[in-house]
Order: sequence, then structure tokens, then C-alpha cells
Amino acid sequence: MIPTPSYAHLSREDFEDVYEPAEDTFVLLDGLEQDVSLLEGSKICLEIGSGSGCVSAFLGSICGASSALYLCTDLNPHATRCTRLTGLSNSIPLNPVLTDLTSALLPRLERSVDVLVFNPPYVETEDEEAEMAQEGGVIERAWAGGKGGMRVTDRLLEQVESLLSDRGLFYLVAVPENKPLEIIEQMQARGLHGEITLKRRAGREHLHILRFSRPGHVEAMQSAP
Ligand SMILES: C[S@@+](CC[C@H](N)C(=O)[O-])C[C@H]1O[C@@H](n2cnc3c(N)ncnc32)[C@H](O)[C@@H]1O
Repeated sequence: MIPTPSYAHLSREDFEDVYEPAEDTFVLLDGLEQDVSLLEGSKICLEIGSGSGCVSAFLGSICGASSALYLCTDLNPHATRCTRLTGLSNSIPLNPVLTDLTSALLPRLERSVDVLVFNPPYVETEDEEAEMAQEGGVIERAWAGGKGGMRVTDRLLEQVESLLSDRGLFYLVAVPENKPLEIIEQMQARGLHGEITLKRRAGREHLHILRFSRPGHVEAMQSAP
């Protein structure tokens, strides 16, 4: 079992402005852990909305601190600071970038990302609430997802196919309100194969981990000797 990265260096005050690792975070860690054999050897990892940095630090312990480049974006400056500190504290060189989704990185990362991860603001809210959170909210940005909880995720889904390398894997946290099967269909139309790799009920939330890849890649890796 791969240990959860330490975030004891982050304080109560930090978690007033930054999303504190919660069940959705931990389900994502479990989804990554069950794919260790697919993830090993990855060279460019990109986490969108890294918050505390816990997920990227965990990815770093799977792919190796010095074997891959870890890029982590967030719209929240408190989150980029915490991500950097979590990297330092866990000896994983995390590179936080303060930007909207991948704005500061595309098109340079086109077809280069081996692991793309997003635990998005997935909670269904009024669109205005999600827009205000994106523009000015701090902690609200972490959860306010607008109609169907998909306002932010939809914008990233448009970019995924162009970001993934040939071996690229994209992990997304979703809940039933986000309509996971429709997300999979939509991504299939964009040329990516998707599946639900993990489901877990946590209180009122029914969390899903979705994994996307280029068709045939995962099957080829799983059948390799
Ligand atoms: C549910 S939290 C997940 C945090 C962390 N990855 C985890 O799993 O604990 C969502 C994160 O996405 C960030 N976020 C929201 N909208 C964003 C955007 N447009 N671009 C980049 N990050 C965004 C939030 O600030 C927040 O840190």
C-alpha cells in the first residue's frame, strides 16, 4: 500500500482557503494506486486543480520523484503555494502553475501528457454560483460546478484528446449528477476510450473514478507479459 502523502505542514488556516483532502481525494488516490503498472514509466504528469498537492505527491511516489515532470495547475494562489510545500515536504518536485485549467501550458504540452488528473468542482449548483466562484471565490472554486456540476469539467474535456500522449491516461472524479456514462460517450466521440474504474459511496456522495486513454492502449499494457 502506498502511503498517503503527508500534509501535516498545512494548517487549519491553510484549509480555510484551500480544499482539504477529503473522500473524493482519497478515492482518486485509490484509483491511481490500482493502476500502478499502467502509470509506472510516465514522464509528464499534469494535475489540474491540485489544491493541497496531495494527489500529485502521491503520483510522484508511483512514478518516481526524479523520473517524471510534475506540473500542477490551480486558479487559487493559496493552492499553488500549498502544492509547492506538499511537494517539498514529501520530496517530490511539484511545479505549481497559477492558471485557468491548462491555459499557461497549451499548446506546448500537445500530445505530451502521460498522466492527466482532475478532481474538479463537481457539485451541481446554479451556473451563476459557479461563475462567481471561478472569477472570485476562493474555497468555493473547489466545489461549485454549475449546471450538472459540469461547467468547469466540460471545458477541460475539450482539451483532453489534444493533451494526451500515445500512452496517456486521464483520471477524472465524477458523481452521478455529472452523468458519468454520458461523459464516456462524449469522449468516445472525441476518440478516447473511457471506463469507470472505481465507485465508492462516501456519505451522500457516490464517487466515481473515470479513466480515459487512446483506444487499445490499456488492453495492450494489460496483456503485455
Ligand atoms: C475538489 S478540489 C480538488 C483539490 C485536490 N486535487 C484534491 O483532490 O484534494 C478542486 C480544485 O480545482 C481548483 N480549480 C477550480 N477551477 C479551476 C480552474 N478553472 N483551473 C484550475 N483549477 C481550478 C480549485 O481551486 C480546487 O483546488
